[in-house]
Amino acid sequence: MSTSGDYDAVREDIKQLIPNKDLSKDGLGPIFVRLAWHASGTYDKNTKTGGSNGATMRFSLESSDAANNGLNIARDCLEPVKENHPWISYADLWTLAGVVAIKELGGPTVPWKSGRVDATDESLVPPNGRLPNAEEGEQHVRDVFYRMGFNDREIVALIGAHCLGRCHKDRSGYEGAWTLTPTKFNNQFYVQLLKKNWSTKELDNGIKQFKDENDRIMMLPADMAFRTDPEFRKIVEEYANDKETFFNDFAAAFGKLLELGVPRSSDTETVAC
Ligand code: HEM
Repeated sequence: MSTSGDYDAVREDIKQLIPNKDLSKDGLGPIFVRLAWHASGTYDKNTKTGGSNGATMRFSLESSDAANNGLNIARDCLEPVKENHPWISYADLWTLAGVVAIKELGGPTVPWKSGRVDATDESLVPPNGRLPNAEEGEQHVRDVFYRMGFNDREIVALIGAHCLGRCHKDRSGYEGAWTLTPTKFNNQFYVQLLKKNWSTKELDNGIKQFKDENDRIMMLPADMAFRTDPEFRKIVEEYANDKETFFNDFAAAFGKLLELGVPRSSDTETVAC
């Protein structure tokens, strides 16, 4: 057991889990990023409900939202870290796991603050259906991310996380990776989105996604909105050509995402990763 507040010790334990190839061919980094995002992306700025505070995905009401399929793997894998450092809240642990994963996979340093408190019952669980639907286009994407309080530039920066990991047929119904380097955080999502000739592909479960010429990588219908929408596309082009600007903008937007719904009366300790 570590001393209360020793986030370096927690970070070290998370790092050790990331290369785990027994559970996923990409290791656990990508799914830790998805867990941190789904724990936070339920926020509604108008009602000030949802968000990362509370770790409400511990309750079946939220974990059973179809959008969260498969995230039990990430939550279960982090359980030994929680046991080793019982003083950390799940809400801090899950968001920190995303931040550590980004860094471990070669991405930027995302600003992260501790201080989230776990909810003790289901009363703070936000309604299901607040996370984006991959079948939809730019209007839906904007509706969902504007509700969280993001602008177009931040939305485009955030979707760049699809450089990591892949879709799993038994989780979302979609299949495949967005890039040929799914364990490296880079700007390849934008590069591939612009460079390839994408065509539709129907899977045997009836799901429609996009494939490149060689059927090696994929895009979701919602990802394609970033290629077709003129405002999104301008920013996609910028990030495809300028990795450093993408890294800086991603770090700021992901840091903001992880803060959604977290009340801050004073500046809680900031942990640099
Ligand atoms: C329009 C918005 C988005 C849609 C529709 C979307 C949809 C999806 C879907 C369907 C999957 C596949 C899940 C699976 O089958 O395992 C996925 C995976 C993933 N998403 Fe997103 N996503 C969106 C935005 C984001 C954002 C904002 C982030 C982080 C900043 C993110 C990070 C990830 C990561 C890292 C994975 C890979 C997980 C793994 O390999 O296990 N996504 N997303």
